[in-house]
Amino acid sequence: MTESSNNKLRGKIAIVTGGASGIGEATARLFAQNGARMVVIADIQDQLGHQVATSIGLDKCNYMHCDVTKEEEVKDMVESTVWKHGQLDIMFSNAGIISASDQSVLDLNISEFDTLFATNVRGMALCVKYAARVMIERRVRGSIICTGSVAASHGGYKGTDYCMSKHAVLGLVRSATLQLGEYGIRVNCVSPNALATGLTSNFHGESIEVLQKKYQAYARLKRVSLNVNHVADAVLFLACNEFVAGHDLLVDGSFIHPYLIMGLQ
Ligand SMILES: NC(=O)c1ccc[n+]([C@@H]2O[C@H](COP(=O)([O-])OP(=O)(O)OC[C@H]3O[C@@H](n4cnc5c(N)ncnc54)[C@H](O)[C@@H]3O)[C@@H](O)[C@H]2O)c1
Repeated sequence: MTESSNNKLRGKIAIVTGGASGIGEATARLFAQNGARMVVIADIQDQLGHQVATSIGLDKCNYMHCDVTKEEEVKDMVESTVWKHGQLDIMFSNAGIISASDQSVLDLNISEFDTLFATNVRGMALCVKYAARVMIERRVRGSIICTGSVAASHGGYKGTDYCMSKHAVLGLVRSATLQLGEYGIRVNCVSPNALATGLTSNFHGESIEVLQKKYQAYARLKRVSLNVNHVADAVLFLACNEFVAGHDLLVDGSFIHPYLIMGLQ
């Protein structure tokens, strides 16, 4: 039976890490609009997270503090979700950061590198680990989605640590797919092109509007600019399609690598 277009997640319990802003917030809203029984936003921005959950409606969305770099916090967050709501159907492991400095190979700031890897790689792996464990225990044919990036498939002139971390996310998704398929658990990756969110706006010190225009140069597709709702739509698709597994869904408007823009190749 096909669910009506706005009821695709009827009765499902979902966790969205990094759900207090940007892509995570848009996805939490879309999950709730699509009938999810409960969306748990897990983030470290407590005030913002509570505000987002309240604006979605506390009957459909809760906020929980969870620093994904900390194994005990991820374990507690996943297990208390199952304890309160009875199960876990969807894990959207999305929390991620960018280093403050340029992080070119010759000038790698290794302490920033470690901080970034703790979130983008270790945190991602911990969320997959604990979500998969409870799904297997409860025999749930769940869906795990990780946020990658176009940076997972290309090198970068800078942001080496970020680029490496997103390559690692793809490795995690591909390995988890092989290991979890037998339990009926699907693991996928959503890989957006650059888009204007708090993450990129803080990094570049530019407004969302200015960045949105700038980033149009990174896509062959014209007359539309990528926003968080485009990514959330793709995540919803991955969350509910029953036979897509091990996929890296690019939401990139046909990515143009900066070296092509710069005329270097
Ligand atoms: N914005 C882009 O251009 C872009 C492009 C491709 C991929 N991505 C990826 O999308 C994801 C979401 O980014 P966004 O652009 O929505 O940024 P964002 O800054 O708006 O959202 C990221 C969220 O993650 C949370 N977070 C950071 N560290 C955390 C931690 N240790 N534990 C829990 N939560 C933590 C932040 O508080 C924030 O709410 C990231 O993984 C990012 O790498 C972003």
